[in-house]
Amino acid sequence: MFEKIRNLIFQDLAIDLGTSNSLVYAKGKGIVIREPSVVAINQKTGQILAIGEEARKMVGKTPSHIVATRPLRSGVISDFEATEQMLRYFIEKARTRKFILSPRPRVIIGIPCGVTEVEKKAVCDAAKSAGASEVFLIEEPMASAIGARLPVQEAGGILVVDIGGGTAEVAVISLGGIVLSKSLRVAGDRLNQDIIQFAEREYKLLIGERTAETIKIAVGSVYPLKERKKVPMRGRNLVTGLPEEILVSDEEIRRALERSVRQIVSEIKEAIEETPPELLADIMARGIHLSGGGSLLRGLEVLIQKETKIPTKIVEDPMTAVVRGAGMVLESLNELRDVLLETEYLEPPR
Ligand SMILES: Nc1ncnc2c1ncn2[C@@H]1O[C@H](COP(=O)(O)OP(=O)(O)OP(=O)(O)O)[C@@H](O)[C@H]1O
Ligand SMILES: [Mg+2]
Repeated sequence: MFEKIRNLIFQDLAIDLGTSNSLVYAKGKGIVIREPSVVAINQKTGQILAIGEEARKMVGKTPSHIVATRPLRSGVISDFEATEQMLRYFIEKARTRKFILSPRPRVIIGIPCGVTEVEKKAVCDAAKSAGASEVFLIEEPMASAIGARLPVQEAGGILVVDIGGGTAEVAVISLGGIVLSKSLRVAGDRLNQDIIQFAEREYKLLIGERTAETIKIAVGSVYPLKERKKVPMRGRNLVTGLPEEILVSDEEIRRALERSVRQIVSEIKEAIEETPPELLADIMARGIHLSGGGSLLRGLEVLIQKETKIPTKIVEDPMTAVVRGAGMVLESLNELRDVLLETEYLEPPR
């Protein structure tokens, strides 16, 4: 009863502040916001014009002094002010009851493993100045394991791999804690860059990030497809300066992505090599769990399974696993508090 009243008044939130996409879970409600992590800024005045979906729509369709930026790179804040504004926008949007005196929400935010103290503090500070009363941090692989309903608090190894836009994170979890983790700054964004470089190298074609991403999602793969696919790739010819359209095959794209895909697989293998044998036995029984949008690259789970010899599967609804997990912690803060990161010491001295 008390909880219900508290929920009505406080509206605590869980936020997956991703490099590519941000999601917000409101306590007692579920996912209420799902938008790209994009901020449109007027470079002449420094003014923020739009955030999220609206900002993304503006990309490329605005005068040149308006730029759409992504305030997070590799999962960490690269533009503090834009991140703070984006958080403020999400927190405001998620609060449906806007009484003048409505108290500020408590917020759980997912962050990559292995970020520095300075980076953690930046996230906490941004959330506080964006209107949060209290900020808790959770490591993304932990959140995604909880979101996938894996028994993180048991004594037994769980291996999760979260491949987002900015980072590919591997973590071994046991007894509610992360036993070992690796964070590689090679993920979806890097695959897009690989396609951009391929277009430039092979066809002298300059293409944008969104074009590269569309091609990746349309034909990107790790193994030959059942049916060969070709897609148009539009850009500007670097020699003539004129627009051009070229048809690229899935095979060409596969080759372009190969190196980065290998790096991700090696990272997983290294983590497995470092895992204590007892935990490894559990992992072999439970399998490897993939989450994040990057895990949707065709055939990736098959390659990981083949290379590691451990059964591998993509969790249900992989792009919402982190926010759902953080949301579950929010719903049962008392029982699950242990999985959160210690943030007390990040507080400024009073
Ligand atoms: N079907 C697909 N095939 C391949 N890649 C995909 C697919 N769908 C989405 N992606 C990629 O997934 C990435 C976004 O995933 P996600 O939303 O999990 O990242 P994020 O949480 O914002 O990033 P991070 O966790 O690194 O901060 C993008 O790079 C996108 O191109
Ligand atoms: Mg993510």
